[in-house]
Amino acid sequence: MNRSAPSRPEDSALPYYEALPYYEQVSPGTGGVAPRSWYAASDAASLSLDGRWRFRLSATADAHDDSFALPGYDASGWPELTVPGHWVLQGEGAYGAPAYTNTGYPFPVDPPRVPTENPTGDHLRVFGLPDDWPASGASVLRFEGVESCARVWLNGEELGEFKGSRLPHEFAVEGLLRPAGNVLAVRVHQWSSGSYLEDQDQWWLPGVFRAVTLRHRPDGPAYDFFVHTAYDHRTGLGTLRVEAGAGGRVTVPELGVDVPAGEAVTVPVEPWTAETPRLYAGELATPGGETVPFRAGFRTVAVEDGVLKVNGRRILFRGVNRHEFHPERGRAVDEATMRHDVLLMKRHNINAVRTSHYPPHPAFLDLCDELGLWVIDECDLETHGFTHDGWRGNPVDDERWTPALLDRAARMVERDKNHASVVMWSLGNECGTGAGLSAMARWIRDRDPSRPLHYEGDPSCADTDVYSRMYADHAEVERIGRHEDDDGPATRRQLPFILCEYGHAMGNGPGGLSEYQRLFETYERLQGGFVWEWIDHGIRDARYGYAYGGDFGEELHDGNFVCDGLLFPDRTPSPGLAEYKKVVEPVLIEGDGPAGTVRVTNRHDFADLGHLSFSWSFEADGEPVESGRLAVPPLAPGRSADVKLPAPPDAPRGAETGWTVRAVLAEDTAWADRGHLVAWGQLPVSGRQSVVSASGAAPVRGADVITLGPAVFDARTGDLRAVGPVPVAGLRLDIWRAPTDNDNGADWQAGRRFGPQWRAAGLHRMRHRRDQVALESDALTVRTRVAPAAGQFGLGAEYRWTADDAGRLTLTVSVTPEGDWRVPLPRLGVRLGLPSGATHARWFGGGPGEAYPDTRAASLLGRWEASVDNLQTPYVRPQENGARADVRRVEIGGLRVDGEPEFWFTARRWTTERLDAAGHRTDLVAGDTLWVNLDHALHGIGSQSCGPGPLPRHVLDVAPATFAFTFSAVE
Ligand code: GAL
Repeated sequence: MNRSAPSRPEDSALPYYEALPYYEQVSPGTGGVAPRSWYAASDAASLSLDGRWRFRLSATADAHDDSFALPGYDASGWPELTVPGHWVLQGEGAYGAPAYTNTGYPFPVDPPRVPTENPTGDHLRVFGLPDDWPASGASVLRFEGVESCARVWLNGEELGEFKGSRLPHEFAVEGLLRPAGNVLAVRVHQWSSGSYLEDQDQWWLPGVFRAVTLRHRPDGPAYDFFVHTAYDHRTGLGTLRVEAGAGGRVTVPELGVDVPAGEAVTVPVEPWTAETPRLYAGELATPGGETVPFRAGFRTVAVEDGVLKVNGRRILFRGVNRHEFHPERGRAVDEATMRHDVLLMKRHNINAVRTSHYPPHPAFLDLCDELGLWVIDECDLETHGFTHDGWRGNPVDDERWTPALLDRAARMVERDKNHASVVMWSLGNECGTGAGLSAMARWIRDRDPSRPLHYEGDPSCADTDVYSRMYADHAEVERIGRHEDDDGPATRRQLPFILCEYGHAMGNGPGGLSEYQRLFETYERLQGGFVWEWIDHGIRDARYGYAYGGDFGEELHDGNFVCDGLLFPDRTPSPGLAEYKKVVEPVLIEGDGPAGTVRVTNRHDFADLGHLSFSWSFEADGEPVESGRLAVPPLAPGRSADVKLPAPPDAPRGAETGWTVRAVLAEDTAWADRGHLVAWGQLPVSGRQSVVSASGAAPVRGADVITLGPAVFDARTGDLRAVGPVPVAGLRLDIWRAPTDNDNGADWQAGRRFGPQWRAAGLHRMRHRRDQVALESDALTVRTRVAPAAGQFGLGAEYRWTADDAGRLTLTVSVTPEGDWRVPLPRLGVRLGLPSGATHARWFGGGPGEAYPDTRAASLLGRWEASVDNLQTPYVRPQENGARADVRRVEIGGLRVDGEPEFWFTARRWTTERLDAAGHRTDLVAGDTLWVNLDHALHGIGSQSCGPGPLPRHVLDVAPATFAFTFSAVE
């Protein structure tokens, strides 16, 4: 706990690298004490220094001397800001702005040098000690996170400086504290050599963004402690050994444990797993009189026979990558928000988190221990920007940086080693390869051999215990599942496989999750994955709604690539999260509807089904007819049972019928209430009867109009004008959609990027040539050709209208491709305009949320109702959204539409063209028409904003098609 001398930046006798100012030196810092575990709950005195601090921003690192750190300095004229916080998110623009880049460094790459323009925030806080602050013993000043480099003074004495933004740093301050008027001065530089190691894909957000605390350290050696636990699944015995300074005592009352620190004890226990997060409360009593509570979770993590196992069983990651983000506070995330994240994950069947790409706030890991999530804890390390120059100069392959890398590894492992939830350490993200990574791996293995190592960026897997990839497509993942990945060393083929990133949740999507899940369930080696990513990093902004890259005038930025989460920035779940919940549900419910049997499979890795209760409901045309409880045995993990459903209740003749079987929580849990829906399945019984086309009525030509049954058409153009009392505008074939981020694809993507191809082909500017308006005895037929300027291809589109005398009107659309089509279609259907007064839609079909061909697992057949506003999915960058799948019929704006076959339905208060042109939510302004799309088919979504595009079966190839809609006016 002794302070070492701070660096002397002005000493020019040192070699070039060391003569640089401290913030440019590659060294991780000076003056601090050795890293140790986080234990917030010790009974030693502690003083939070969070709150309002005096603040001064300078444009450069050397604009001011150190005098502000001296006691007596008058900072009364400085404004205040909140710690924890980022200065760029405070001061209403007065303190600069956030900047977003994905991989490119926002400064010239010349490591370890940083620009002269180096925003520097001087933070000052004056504090007194509480009256009961112990007179003896040491104290440390602890910083949980400061981006990117801080120099610290207490009462005018320099304590040292550090780098490693999302890692803790402590300084011993004995002899410096006074009862009152302590002056804590912290100078924070936005850019430092550490910035080269922190090129994660996120906003650059400088500041003291995590807590600052003063902690008393009672006398005695228990400066750090290491809770070692293991579980032997063969014997049911758990082993506990708490390593701490000599003389400590360890008690776990519930287990009758009372042993000296350092002594191993083996007792019968219930193991810890993410599904059954059993923790035992213990205490470490130090000779100095400190009591440190801890929670022991007993589990053993091992790679055995090429499989990652916990407590002897293969586990399957149903994971997400979580960055720390709050739309107003950036990475200064409060505990309520962290808890909210964990609860949302648990409620959506997520069982694992990769802390991309740095150790999270330590309280987050406490929540993972308590509520049950597997965690891959990743070090605060990414040097991705070096890839643009073939990894030249990569710090992880330059021994001068190795001390900084080892420092980061140690700060992560020491801080987080006592968490049961942490089952793997990850060296970092996207750093290429290098000896520095191997040095980190060696250090970690030596310090904590109990956890396997993860790193994705080295295809040789030299330093890792799992083979990890990101965004590999389904076919490749399947080859890996079969151990056919012969593009790497043979040793790699023996490793378990995970997708540390997949399912790029940018905008609408991700598509293709179900197909990945089937692979994970089929091949033992494929142990699941982590969707990229948890939350959109949109920053709340009056002008844009949510801002993304470029909105703050950055000269270099990566646009809305920072908005790629399963949650919107305000933490509202997006349809992608609903889809993921369904895809990874831990109970499979399938069966034979007509035979009345349901097959239930327990897909948990550890829990039996005793915590769930099952029910059935029988529906006719989407309306529940009867429901009841279903007795399902408490199946062990991996087991299935066929369960008999009751005799089907009576249903109206000709109705479409089926069973819905649901599994809900039988009792309240720590993460959701009893009744919370965990899994469901639908078993059709009798199918849908086809919609009979309206026929029999004869068209009548008037002066300007043609009437046919309930419909009125323009006599010259053949355009539909009204159905009964409902005015209809602009009904015509529609193939365009506002490209999604996944349609557009990433610009480095080699595959087919449909959005740009569609636009190049002119699909957003199709022209409709009217060839014929023909009256037949029982039909009005309008023939058109739909094609873009400059193209020698198009679609023949025939609209054939028939009606009956009972108020029904049928439109049969026949589409015939012409010419040489080289692109698939975004959509195929019709769109029409209704008066804007329509506020609600009711439909019988898939719901309640959005669905597309490869994002439809969560779409439940039933009767649904939604306001037009709620039919919109508010992607941060507006794009195609809101389709409902398998729609049999919809009522909207006084019109009922029955489809033959089923169709996709979308309604919005702006045109697709306006949606396409919008950059932010605030660009979408309701017009005076409600635009409705009735689609026969939609192109899939895929994941090409970073991963593979839609699977071939979800590509909407151009082909002849016929489909029909029957319209009638309703009350
Ligand atoms: C990965 C990277 C992530 C993120 C993602 C795309 O390559 O590890 O940090 O950039 O791509 O959103």
